[in-house]
Amino acid sequence: MATSDQRSALGRARAGANFALIKYWGKADALLNVPAVGSISITLDALYTDTQVELDSTLARDELWLDGKRRDEDVAKISACLDLLRARARVTTRARVTTANNFPTGAGLASSASGYAALVRAAEAALELDLTPRERSIVARQGSGSAARSIFGGFVEMHAGVAPDGSDSFAEPLLEANEWPLEVVIAVTAKGEKEVGSRSGMMRSATSSPYYAAWVAGQPADLAAARTAIRARDFAALAELAEHNCLKMHAAALSARPPLVYWNGATVECLHTVQRLRAQGCPVFFTIDAGPQVKAVCAPGARSQVAAALRAVPGVQELLTSALGPGAESK
Ligand code: PMV
Repeated sequence: MATSDQRSALGRARAGANFALIKYWGKADALLNVPAVGSISITLDALYTDTQVELDSTLARDELWLDGKRRDEDVAKISACLDLLRARARVTTRARVTTANNFPTGAGLASSASGYAALVRAAEAALELDLTPRERSIVARQGSGSAARSIFGGFVEMHAGVAPDGSDSFAEPLLEANEWPLEVVIAVTAKGEKEVGSRSGMMRSATSSPYYAAWVAGQPADLAAARTAIRARDFAALAELAEHNCLKMHAAALSARPPLVYWNGATVECLHTVQRLRAQGCPVFFTIDAGPQVKAVCAPGARSQVAAALRAVPGVQELLTSALGPGAESK
C-alpha cells in the first residue's frame, strides 16, 4: 500500500481496444454506470492505449495528457475513476496521467475501452494495489462500460448484473485469443471525433426509441446463442448473430428522437461488401459501433481477401488490421 505522504510513484500499462459482437447499448444505472444488457466482445492486439500514471504530491489536481495534448476538459472523468482506486489505497495524492492511443481517438474505435482499462492497470501499479481481475473490471466499468471488457483478452463476456451497488456487473473471459484466432479488418470511413458519444446516444435511445424495450428484452437470447457459438467455434452461427445484434442496436439508435445515424455512405457500402463476400463463401461478418467505421471479423485465412475488397470501397480512407490480443497488462 502506498503512503499518503508519498511524493511520486509511477505505474505504466497497456490495454487493447475491444469491440462487441453482442452489443452494450443502454444503462440500468447511469451513476454507477451499470449496463442495461450484457455484452460479448473481442479484445484486439494491434489497437491499444499506453498509459502512465505518476503520483505527484505537488499537483493540486489531476492532469491529463492525451496524445501529446493537455485535456483539461476530460480530467473530471478520469479523476472520478482514480478516486475509486485512491480511496482503496487511502491516498489522496493527485496524478499526472499521460496516455496515447496508437489509433484514432473517439471515432468509434473503442478508445474509451482501452483507455480506462489501461488507466486502471497503471493507477493500480502506481498506488501499489493488488486487485483481482474482477475488481479491475468493476472499476474500469465505472469509467466506461466497454472498458470492463478490455481488462481481459480474447473473447470476453460482460455481465449486466442485478445488484443495486453494481458489484456483479463485471466482465469475464470466455476464450483466450489463441483458442480461436479470428482476425479483424477495420474500414475507417471517417476520421475525427464522433458527434454524439455513446453515453448520450444510449440515453436518447432509451428515452425515445419505440424499439429500445425490444432491444433489451432480446439480449439474453442473443448472449446465450453467442456463448454457444463461441464455445463451439461455429463461425457461421456467430456471424449471423453478431450482424443481427448490431443492426438491432442501430435500429434503436436510428429510431431515437432526434435520430442517431452513425453511418455514412461508405459504412453502408462496406456492410454490403461484407455480406456479398460471405454469400460467396468467404468467412467474414461485420459489426459497427457508435461511429461510421466498419469492423469486419474474419475466420483465420480470410483476412487478405476481406482487406482487398474493403480497400476498393469508395470512401474507405484507411484499413487497420488486427489479431485478437491479451488483456490489460502493467509494464
Ligand atoms: O463503453 P462505452 O460507453 O463507450 O459504450 C460502448 C457502446 C458500443 O461501443 C456502441 C457497444 C459496445 O458494446 O462496445
